[in-house]
Amino acid sequence: MCGIVGFTGKTQAVGFLLDGLERLEYRGYDSAGIAVLDGGLKIEKTTERIKNLMDKTDNGKNVSGTIGIGHTRWATHGVPSFENAHPHTSSDKKFAVVHNGIIENYIQLREELKADGVEFVSETDTEVVPQLLSKYYEGDFFAAVAKTIARLEGSYALGILCTDCPNTLIAVRKFSPLIIGLSDNANYIASDVTAIVSHTKDIMYIEDGEIAVLTPDGVKLYDSDKNEINREPSVIDWDISAAEKGGYDHFMMKEIMEQPNAVKQTVDSRIKGREIVFEGLKLDEAKLKTIERIDIIACGSAYHAGMVGKYVFEELLRIPTNVDLASEYRYRNPITNDKTLTIIISQSGETADTLAALKEAKRLGSHTLSIVNVVGSSIANASDDVIYTWAGPEIAVATTKGYTTQLSVLYMIAVWAARLLKSADSKRIERLFDELCRLPELIEKVILEEPKIKEMAKKCGDPKSLFFIGRNIDYAVALEASLKLKEISYIHSEAYAAGELKHGTISLIEEGRTVIALASFEELFDKLLSNVKEVKARGAKVIACATEGHTEIAGEAEEVIYIPKTDPLLIAALEVVPFQIYSYYVALYKGCDIDKPRNLAKSVTVE
Ligand code: AGP
Repeated sequence: MCGIVGFTGKTQAVGFLLDGLERLEYRGYDSAGIAVLDGGLKIEKTTERIKNLMDKTDNGKNVSGTIGIGHTRWATHGVPSFENAHPHTSSDKKFAVVHNGIIENYIQLREELKADGVEFVSETDTEVVPQLLSKYYEGDFFAAVAKTIARLEGSYALGILCTDCPNTLIAVRKFSPLIIGLSDNANYIASDVTAIVSHTKDIMYIEDGEIAVLTPDGVKLYDSDKNEINREPSVIDWDISAAEKGGYDHFMMKEIMEQPNAVKQTVDSRIKGREIVFEGLKLDEAKLKTIERIDIIACGSAYHAGMVGKYVFEELLRIPTNVDLASEYRYRNPITNDKTLTIIISQSGETADTLAALKEAKRLGSHTLSIVNVVGSSIANASDDVIYTWAGPEIAVATTKGYTTQLSVLYMIAVWAARLLKSADSKRIERLFDELCRLPELIEKVILEEPKIKEMAKKCGDPKSLFFIGRNIDYAVALEASLKLKEISYIHSEAYAAGELKHGTISLIEEGRTVIALASFEELFDKLLSNVKEVKARGAKVIACATEGHTEIAGEAEEVIYIPKTDPLLIAALEVVPFQIYSYYVALYKGCDIDKPRNLAKSVTVE
């Protein structure tokens, strides 16, 4: 996620801008920049670290001015580059803007502005904002802002400067976070309290659609009709380290809680009416109709997302779909060709085995499409096509929002392809589309179970080992749930296809052994219930997960987590969440280093 800072006060701005950007570094970024107003706009950018900005400005000494804005960019539209780094300015250099979010109608706005003779210098969606400000400006800064934001669709937190108003900083937000800091000598904006808390603990919240006008003497809030809004300031009670985690104790819990918004950002940015639009995709209808097989290749949790993809693609597209571990695929002398679609999944976009597998598939003629969370990463750049997850930076080693946003892209691909191929009943496809759009609110509903799951984790104790069982998509979720538990709590855990128990594993079931039964795939619920009875009969302590209404399992399990009903193909995005939370608390009670588990790295860039 991008980071924004802004300052207007009675002292120099650059100190706060550089310090604030440094404090937002944890959010992850690939470029940064500042703009300070002192007569004209002085702009400095970097595609390196914030320290490079400090070096360039001699720690701010050569950037004078008492008002400014700054930005750390997490690339979405346009690769990481100097030209794409914020702040962006209007062609007449009258306006400078920093932006966090996605302007979804930026292509249409760019075309309109180009027709007016505007020459764009970046590939970003953001650049349409300063150009629109310049178009609508007739001497009234506020009016130009109000007209501009009326044209924007999507999500945005904006910090805006105008050379005609040397003390006035205007900030706007819609869906993207923004906070205002208040003090006697200066007023501030920032994406989160981390950048502000060491300067002031007095803050003011700005709500979606509101416009904040900051000057050194105070802050006023308005609606877009310039009706003033009175809002009481608040006081931050966090310390700086807590603030980086948004008030959570660990990044992992913060990122679990971010999943509804991460999935919303990922899905909404591709939905135009009822259409699913993947901007710039080379895989078109003609090519899609030649595909005879799909290979999904990944590692770890990305592989588990691919396992879900297999069930979804084969059900909806009726195309044989394999899922491969990248480390196996690359050394197996794989058989593939131009009639195979190879889907590569990677949060970091830098996993060595996955990158190598991608190159091998491409060398053998397969069309490669990657699902990646990091814009401009090696895997993204090496693929024929890339569809980004908009999860924002994921700091915790154990992926959560990375996995659920990967699922949401797989679901969108399935609906998009099924419509083109007419490979499933159209009513079913449209029902699935509707449920896909509901996923953020459904995940939100599952997260409400957190207090109950926290209590369940307390009873987990420190078992010798723990089993997850499931069938069909529940089995794919069992794999991911088991990995979550293993990697952060160091408890041995195994995921098994429930139908496999009788082929050996059930010999491991003894008195008190914990078995977590995932029974949300309703079509096979009764079979899973039988498996639960089998393991209970041998002394297992069962925790179950089922969709609302399947209360009969409560008679067999000590604990049941219910998730909302939805299309069976989408249950993985809901069912995984309780076990992300469960694993988190089990590890917490064991005193493990949750965000940085032993022996693990966030991105495995070596074999
Ligand atoms: C997931 O919690 C793990 N951190 C790990 O399995 C991860 O999914 C795997 O290393 C793949 O990483 P990638 O998605 O960045 O390629």
